[in-house]
Amino acid sequence: MPGPFPPLRPSCPQMLHGGDYNPDQWLHDPAILAEDRRLLGEARCNSVSVGIFAWAALQPAEAVFCFDWLDRLLDELAADGRYAVLATPSAAMPAWLAHAYPEVRRVERDRRRRLHGARVTFCYTSPVYRAKVTELNSRLAERYATHPALVLWHISNEYGGECHCELCQHAFRQWLRQRYGDSLEALNRAWWTAFWSHTYTAWSQIESPSPLGETCTHGLQLDWQRFVTAQTIDFYRAEIAPLRAADPSVPITTNFMGLYPGLDYGKFAAEVDVVCWDSYPQWHPHEPAAPLYPFATPDWWQEAGPDALVAADTAFVHDLYRRLKGGRPWLLMESTPSVTNWQYAAKLKRPGLHLAASLQAVAHGADSVQYFQWRKSRGASEKLHGAVVDHVGHEHTRVFAEVRAVGEALARLDEVVGSTTRPAVALICDWENRWAIDHAAGPRHTHRDYLPVCHEHYRPFWRRGVAVDVLDCDGALDGYRLVLAPMLYLLRPGVAARLAAFVAGGGTLVTTYWSGLVNESDLCTLGGVPGELRPVLGIWAEETDSLYDADRVLINAVAGNPLGLQGSWQAALLCDLVHAETATVLATYGSEFYAGRPALTANRWGAGTAYHVAARCEPAFTDRLCAALLTQLGLAGVLPALPAGVSATVRSDGQRDYLFVLNFAGSERRVDLAGRTGQELTGGQAVAGELPLQPYDARVIRLD
Ligand code: GLA
Ligand code: ZN
Repeated sequence: MPGPFPPLRPSCPQMLHGGDYNPDQWLHDPAILAEDRRLLGEARCNSVSVGIFAWAALQPAEAVFCFDWLDRLLDELAADGRYAVLATPSAAMPAWLAHAYPEVRRVERDRRRRLHGARVTFCYTSPVYRAKVTELNSRLAERYATHPALVLWHISNEYGGECHCELCQHAFRQWLRQRYGDSLEALNRAWWTAFWSHTYTAWSQIESPSPLGETCTHGLQLDWQRFVTAQTIDFYRAEIAPLRAADPSVPITTNFMGLYPGLDYGKFAAEVDVVCWDSYPQWHPHEPAAPLYPFATPDWWQEAGPDALVAADTAFVHDLYRRLKGGRPWLLMESTPSVTNWQYAAKLKRPGLHLAASLQAVAHGADSVQYFQWRKSRGASEKLHGAVVDHVGHEHTRVFAEVRAVGEALARLDEVVGSTTRPAVALICDWENRWAIDHAAGPRHTHRDYLPVCHEHYRPFWRRGVAVDVLDCDGALDGYRLVLAPMLYLLRPGVAARLAAFVAGGGTLVTTYWSGLVNESDLCTLGGVPGELRPVLGIWAEETDSLYDADRVLINAVAGNPLGLQGSWQAALLCDLVHAETATVLATYGSEFYAGRPALTANRWGAGTAYHVAARCEPAFTDRLCAALLTQLGLAGVLPALPAGVSATVRSDGQRDYLFVLNFAGSERRVDLAGRTGQELTGGQAVAGELPLQPYDARVIRLD
């Protein structure tokens, strides 16, 4: 019984395994297509994503449509019991369209219109482009919405970028008029345009950010980014209208790009039926210390090995995607079976890593493992990108065998479909906050590091097997015991009140330096930072010291502090000079002219406590603080004392718990199951006591 979420469709109670299939590149060679059909079975693939870049093959000229190849393919898929994830091909426009209607081509920030080429280069406002997309999507819907192979619509591909054409400028101005209640005065105030005499006296004077024009008005930049998300969603809505009309029961998605900065996926997620993302971690990095800049790698991470850090940071994104639709399983829409062609070096996945990385996605809530791409292209920009079927053309390759192993494992995990994870810990990572931090001019020009700091606050939980939800500022906080909100620089209306209510209700909150500096328009807080958070945190941050990269400031635990912290740590880059107003001081600075001032505070608020860390502290400090809070709250990892480099997570359907144990250390590990017993789904045998793990071993255990 899958649950508690239903499967993607009743017709598909299975883990999906497959990926982007582009037969439109091989239509001239029917033998290849026939071979693909056989090889899909050999690779244990039950689904393919088709038509993603097939506009030219589906509509070779404005008045010519050609569906016979797709008809044949979908019929064959259905006959073979496979699923089709059918795409709308809007991501890449055909040359005839780009030439016939110049307005469909994007205009860049410097106001130059693009030529035809590349992909995702269309104007998302252009009525012509929308009409052409609607026409083709309507035909696809008419023809395939009720096809037995169809399991999911895949809208376009990796929406992204922005257009600055006149049509988009007009749409932006309309969007602003709505946001500011048609009041230019309200806009001028929100954007602080009196600065440098930038006051607008007509809506038509407003232009999107450009290196030739405005780049310093932070309110404009923020609103432009909000508009880009809104307009992309608007385009997506236009794309899906004919599909919904044809058969509203077919679920719809569009593939997101992990932590891509350009779109607020928190907003976009509400528009899709299931979220999915394309995951391409750079495994086997040479330099394990880089993600921990400016600090040295702590012993624990040294012992865990470089892949463990990659795994932890990838898990963060997986957890964000699981939370985007409230715990509903998501889809891994793309991953590479071997290498990418765009990372700085295409290092092969070491044997076994592919299974571990694939099951890691499942461990964090994915109900699929899909690839880019099925068959390696013979030419053009991705001819050297990894694929399931290599140019050699047969199944006797190392990569194909690793893919088949994933297929065999997934086939044993159907009962996991629909299950989820309900963490007690949440970490706030918010796109608008990220944009605002990136825009800020000062107090340092490098390493404001919002995302790295979010990762720093996630890793202590990953290494202990403690589940975390990653959510934005709008996410509901009910049910969590511990919420971490590092660098909450921008406070939208209502956010501080919700955090305070969470604490008052018994929750534990952790915030850091650089919180509550600006409002939703990027206007600075008046009357003392952290603004609306000041009462709940019980502090006032008077100044921020921005340090040179090599500078270090000491932090000392206060003797007898209630968290039992002992010792000294280093802080770097940004140190807030804080006054404890109602808060208790748990650690103080130990050097600089602010020695003795608070570095860690705790403030009782209602039934809970709000902690505040005043500086960018070394990972060992964050790790110690998180461990102390877990102990205090009586929260523990899935398995106690996980060896370095091993991850443990649980998905549950409410009745049965599925434990995923994955070894990302480069060497053997033994995991103590702490009295738990179960049945290994991937291997079939009963497990108890100690679990020996080879490098990259991936086990899925149904717990008794
Ligand atoms: C993205 C795209 C794919 C392909 C891969 C290559 O995820 O969606 O079409 O280009 O990257 O890694
Ligand atoms: Zn445009």
